[in-house]
Amino acid sequence: MKSAIDILNERIGAAMVRVTGCQSCAAIVRPATDPKFGDYQANGVMAVAKQLKTNPRKLAEQVVAQLDLGDICEPPEIAGPGFINLRLKPQYVAAQLRQINADSTGRLGIAGEPEPQTLVVDFSSPNVAKQMHVGHLRSTIIGDCISRVLEFLGHRVIRQNHLGDWGTQFGMLIRYVQEHFSDVVASGMREEPLSKGLSVADMEDLYRKAKHRYDDDPQYAKEARDWVVRLQSGDPEAVSLWRRIVRASLEECQAIYDQLNVQLTQNDVRGESAYNNDLPGVVGDLKRASLATESDGAVCVFPPGFKTKEGEPLPFIIQKSDGAYLYATTDLAALRYRVDVLKADRIVYVTDSRQILHFQMLFKVAEMAGWDRRDGRKVELVHVPFGSVLGEDGKPLKTRSGENVKLQELLDEAVERARAVVEEKNPDLPPQQKAKIAAAVGVGAVKYADYSNNRTSDYVFSFSKMLAMDGNTAPYMQYAYARVKSIERKAESKGVSIPDELRDLGNLDLTEPTELDLGKHLVRYAEAIESAAADYRPNYLTAYLYELAQRFSAFYTECPVLDAPPAKRPTRLLLCDLTAKTIQHGLSQLLGIQVVEQM
Ligand code: ARG
Repeated sequence: MKSAIDILNERIGAAMVRVTGCQSCAAIVRPATDPKFGDYQANGVMAVAKQLKTNPRKLAEQVVAQLDLGDICEPPEIAGPGFINLRLKPQYVAAQLRQINADSTGRLGIAGEPEPQTLVVDFSSPNVAKQMHVGHLRSTIIGDCISRVLEFLGHRVIRQNHLGDWGTQFGMLIRYVQEHFSDVVASGMREEPLSKGLSVADMEDLYRKAKHRYDDDPQYAKEARDWVVRLQSGDPEAVSLWRRIVRASLEECQAIYDQLNVQLTQNDVRGESAYNNDLPGVVGDLKRASLATESDGAVCVFPPGFKTKEGEPLPFIIQKSDGAYLYATTDLAALRYRVDVLKADRIVYVTDSRQILHFQMLFKVAEMAGWDRRDGRKVELVHVPFGSVLGEDGKPLKTRSGENVKLQELLDEAVERARAVVEEKNPDLPPQQKAKIAAAVGVGAVKYADYSNNRTSDYVFSFSKMLAMDGNTAPYMQYAYARVKSIERKAESKGVSIPDELRDLGNLDLTEPTELDLGKHLVRYAEAIESAAADYRPNYLTAYLYELAQRFSAFYTECPVLDAPPAKRPTRLLLCDLTAKTIQHGLSQLLGIQVVEQM
C-alpha cells in the first residue's frame, strides 16, 4: 500500500514538471502543522518559483490546475505565498482502512522497502567488569528500537554489541582476582563463568580496589602489567581468567536485555577483543598509504578540517608511543570488518553525544583510507547521538553518594512503584497477574519515557512523571490499549462477533468528525514509522501513538460503539480494532514495550 504522502509527492511533482518544463521538481509534501489547513501541505512550489524567478502564487495556481487528485483529496487550496493545502477525502480514508483490515500478515498494510539494505547497528556496547549504568540504557533501548523499525521496513539488520572487553585494565583485574579469589580460581571451574563465585558488582568493587593497589604499589603495578603482556600473548591462564570475567559480565547484561525486552543475544556480541589481531594491520595500512604519521612518538592521522582549540591540526591517535592501540584503532578495524565481511550498506552507531567528535573523525579517516567503500559504492556511516539522563536536580543522574545509578536498581524500583499503582487501581486481581502488569508497566514506563523525549536532548528522569496515568506515558498508552480491548471483550459477551462484523464491511461511513479524525490518523501509521526510521527518532513513534490514543478517546466519547445503529457499528468496531492493533504493533513490535489486556 503506497502512503498518501508518497502519492501526493509523485503527482504534485509531476504536475510541477508539466507546468515548468523542468527535469524534475520536488513537491515537498509534509504533514500539515495545523489541521485547520488540512492534512498535508506541499511546500515545493516556492523554491521552484524562486529558481525560475516567477510569482510563486501564480505558479501554485497553474500547478493546481494541472493536478488530478480527485481520488485522494478535496480540491487543493492555495495559501500564503504558494503553499498547497491538501485534505484527504473520507472515501479515500475509508478505502485505506479497508485495505489495512484486509491485510492478514500483521503488517497493517505497510509494505516493506523496495530496495532493502544490509545494515549494521552498533548499540548497547557496555564495558566488561562494570555494571551497566543508566548511560547504557539509552544506547541499548534506542538501538533496539532503531533495529526493530529498520527490520520491520524490510532491511537486513545485523546487531553488533561492541563490548568493551579489552584493555590494560584487565591486567589489574586478573592480578586482583588471582590473589583474592584464589578459591574461585582454583575450584576447577575453569570454563565456568566467574559469576559462580563473583558477581559484577564484586568485580566493579574489586576493579576500584585493584586500581588503588595499582596506583600505590609499584610491585603490584608491574605484576598487573605482566598480566597484560601474558593476556596479549595468549597465555592460557591469563586468557582463561579474562574469559571468565567477560562471561560473568555478559550474563548480567543478558539478564537486563531480557528484562528490557531488547533483542540482543550473545550472538550479537563482537567485542573489542575480536579485533585484536587486526590492529597492527590497521596502523600498517594507514602508514603505507601515507595517511598516518608519527607525532611525539604516537601514530596519528590528521583528518583535514579538525582543529584543536589552539587551531592546530587535531590528531586521531591510533597507536600510543608505548605501542598500545586505542579505542580509535579498534573502531577502524571494526569498520573494515563490517564493510568487508558483514557487507554492510550502512553502519549506524548509537552512543551518547560526547562521542560525536570521535565518530566524525572516524568516518573521515575511513573515507580518506577508502575503507567506507565496497565494490566502488559508498557505505553510509551514521552516528546517532543522544543526550544525558539527568536527576531531578538537573545534573547527570547519580546516587546520593555520587555514583552512577545502576540500571538494574532503576528497573527494580520502577517495577516496585508500578506495583503500587496496580495495587491501587485494581486490588482484586490475582497476585500473579498484578506482578505481570507491574513488570510491563514499570519497565515500559522507563523505556517509553526515554523514547518520548527528543533523542538529542538531555531529559530529567522522574519516576512520578513516567508512571503517571495521564500524559504521554507508557501507562497511559497501555491503559488506552486495555480500554479498547475491554470494548472488544464486552462485544463478545454481548454475542457480537468482531471478526464476522469486520469480514463484510459494506460501506464505511466516516461522517462523524471524530470518526474521520481517528481514521485519518490510523492510515498515517506508515508515515510515522518512515520518518522515525529516516531520522532515527523513536519519539516520532511515541508522538504518533499518543495522538492516536487521544483521537480514540475523542471518538469514543462522541460515538457509541456497541450501541451504535446497526449500519454504523461495523465502521466503529473497525476503528476500535485498528486502534488496538496499531497501539499493540507500535508498543510491542517497534518499541519493545509489553501491552496488557487489562490494567
Ligand atoms: N564501550 C563504549 C562505551 O561504553 C561504547 C562503544 C560504542 N561503539 C563503538 N563502535 N565505538 O562508551
